Amino acid sequence: EKMQPTIFVIFGGTGDLNARKLAPALYNLYLEGWLPKQFSIIGTGRTKLKDDEFRANLLKDINQFSRSGKVKSEQWDIFSKSLFYQASDLNDAETYKEFGVRIQQHETEWHTRANVIYYLAVAPNFFPIIAENLAKSKLTKDAERTRIVIEKPFGHDLESAKSLNQLLTRIFNERQIYRIDHYLGKETVQNIMAFRFANSILEPTWNRNYIDHVQISVTEQLGAGERAGYYDGSGALRDMIQNHLLQLLCIVAMEPPVSFSAEEVRNRKVDVMRAMRRFSPEDVRLSTVRGQYGGGWIEGKEVPGYRDELGSESNTETFAAVKFFVDNWRWQGVPFYLRTGKRMHQSASVITIQFKDVPHFMFPAAAADNISHNRLIISIQPEMSIRLQVQAKRPGLDMVLNTVDMVFDYKGTYTNQAPEAYETLLLDTMLGDQTLFMRGDQVEEAWDLIMPILNTWQNRKSLNFPNYSADSWGPESAEALIARDGFHWFTLPLNNKKKTA
Ligand code: BG6
Repeated sequence: EKMQPTIFVIFGGTGDLNARKLAPALYNLYLEGWLPKQFSIIGTGRTKLKDDEFRANLLKDINQFSRSGKVKSEQWDIFSKSLFYQASDLNDAETYKEFGVRIQQHETEWHTRANVIYYLAVAPNFFPIIAENLAKSKLTKDAERTRIVIEKPFGHDLESAKSLNQLLTRIFNERQIYRIDHYLGKETVQNIMAFRFANSILEPTWNRNYIDHVQISVTEQLGAGERAGYYDGSGALRDMIQNHLLQLLCIVAMEPPVSFSAEEVRNRKVDVMRAMRRFSPEDVRLSTVRGQYGGGWIEGKEVPGYRDELGSESNTETFAAVKFFVDNWRWQGVPFYLRTGKRMHQSASVITIQFKDVPHFMFPAAAADNISHNRLIISIQPEMSIRLQVQAKRPGLDMVLNTVDMVFDYKGTYTNQAPEAYETLLLDTMLGDQTLFMRGDQVEEAWDLIMPILNTWQNRKSLNFPNYSADSWGPESAEALIARDGFHWFTLPLNNKKKTA
């Protein structure tokens, strides 16, 4: 596809997200030939910097965070020419005129109009003021050429998400708004759709007749650490389940879309959330668990508890587990167990689809001593693989069965490195493809779904926090949540643990 001339205006240009993710991603896109010839990045922030200082900072960041290793100077010389910096006061509409001037300078130099992408990599309280000031400064007039990218969190609850949507859609068309959920850009997450909808053998079993239950587990060894201040106003349910885990659930549960286009795919995903059962306070009691980590040791290093990191007696959850149901024909009665937590034993994002057992086991009972269940295990990270667990006869003179893995492993199959999620997503903003971005109604539906949980939790404050220690699998009650139904949380043994920390 031919790329249009593009200008990125990155709000939060001196911030962490730009340093760790955006700049390295754009640099890799450049290396792989995905950027248009006429391309520039205007970083902006409160700090006063010259273009050269901005470039030097990003060079350091890219060297540190890029998957492609140390930057080569010939390549940097070319790429860095497209980096510019403009100090700004985001509350001051005058500032925005400067962006207009800069944009025009580039367009004059290029003898052509450019697409302009405003990327809001700033704290969420700036989203409204930036959008308003862009509009006031007439920088959003050309709907065909202007896009806005909004980082998370998109709202703090249903009400605030709605009012942010209202504000944005007063200024932009939905087609111009790119709400980021970076999980959707992950290579292995995109592959779930390929796997489900480009193979005919799965669909006949992909329903309540064959699937027993689904688990979606996103655990991290990392703690809240320096982010504790921000994190404390959020918690695991808002930070991870409202967005990343529910999106994974939607991809697993969605009906086959008519085509791989933004509206078709997003319609099918939002259908899933609309079908999900809303919780009564009693459901919240029975179907959710929250936890907070205490101190402990991870990989031989002593780590503080959450309250110590934060420096106060917070009741914010750093772990959440929820049992959801999707009330439609395909999934009636099939539980979806979601869990996520910080400072846990492993960093791993894994979806496990457990199938029902055979209707009649014809082998002698002893043959089954070592078998478990048929499972499809989609490992998103750090291992990138899809495994199908099946039963097989162990070689030998007696009839003994084992559970064995049929494995599709990225490492063993492909030699090229998978791109980072942000490379995919930034490229899509340039191409104008919204398939992997959150539509306004999806975000609201996800908030609507978790509001009863948030509200019930809010009203029940007396908690025994901390209730799990670092390096554990979360609170005991999370095991009980799933054990009551006769299941247990599935974990993939990781052999390269060191690298995942
Ligand atoms: C972010 C959360 O959205 O996702 C963080 O705010 C979390 O708390 C992160 O650590 C996890 O992302 P990833 O890509 O490292 O799995």
